[in-house]
Amino acid sequence: PRTAAVIPAAGRGVRLGPGAPKALRALGGTPMLIHAVRAMAASRGVSLVVVVAPPDGAGEVKSLLDAHALPERTDFLVVPGGETRQESVRLGLDALPPEYDIVLVHDAARPLVPVDSVDAVIDAVREGAPAVVPAVPLADTVKQVEPAAAPGEPEPVVATPERARLRAVQTPQGFDRATLVRAHGTVTDDVTDDASMVERLGLAVVVVPGHEEAFKVTRPLDLVLAEAVLARRRL
Ligand code: CTP
Ligand code: MG
Repeated sequence: PRTAAVIPAAGRGVRLGPGAPKALRALGGTPMLIHAVRAMAASRGVSLVVVVAPPDGAGEVKSLLDAHALPERTDFLVVPGGETRQESVRLGLDALPPEYDIVLVHDAARPLVPVDSVDAVIDAVREGAPAVVPAVPLADTVKQVEPAAAPGEPEPVVATPERARLRAVQTPQGFDRATLVRAHGTVTDDVTDDASMVERLGLAVVVVPGHEEAFKVTRPLDLVLAEAVLARRRL
């Protein structure tokens, strides 16, 4: 089975603060998106990478990819993204050639995911799981609250789920293509990952071990950590 990776990279990165779109911000002197593309292309299983670019940045992203060599075995495509992550992923799926039957969806904002994690996800889909998510145990205890009526107001705690049974979910998430396409064509609720759309279809989703270096660059402190991880790798 042939595997393609769709990389949603069309977000602004509001929580990271002012500057270029998040995927184009530098990490170790190279745009975060390039790291993410290389992380997918590093897997021998991935033969196509579809980058979903900021709506007005497809040309720029294409030039960037032309300028940064990928392995010979890996093709790439660039398509403009949408208003939401969900829409961006769907636009990426729409661009997939027919011969790919396994799809990874990987956030451009997770530039440092190790190739072993990518391979583990692909392997689990090849072994028959329609949806696979890499995830890690939580360090913090999590509380469900009643959101504050006004900013700064104390929030009543509703429940404390048992931490040992919780997982923080990462990407790449891997799917049987037909399953993911059906999920994106059916589920219209707001969701924050692709696997939850498959869950809404009533299908099984399984978790495989993720990696701490696959964390998402979301806030300024995450960029500090990402620079440090990259520097450590280069030692
Ligand atoms: N994404 C996308 N299209 C959107 C919104 C997000 O392709 N309309 C992508 C982002 O580029 C990112 C991934 O989805 O690679 C995960 O989203 P997130 O970390 O929330 O990134 P942003 O939406 O850019 O950040 P923020 O929410 O802080 O604005
Ligand atoms: Mg976002």
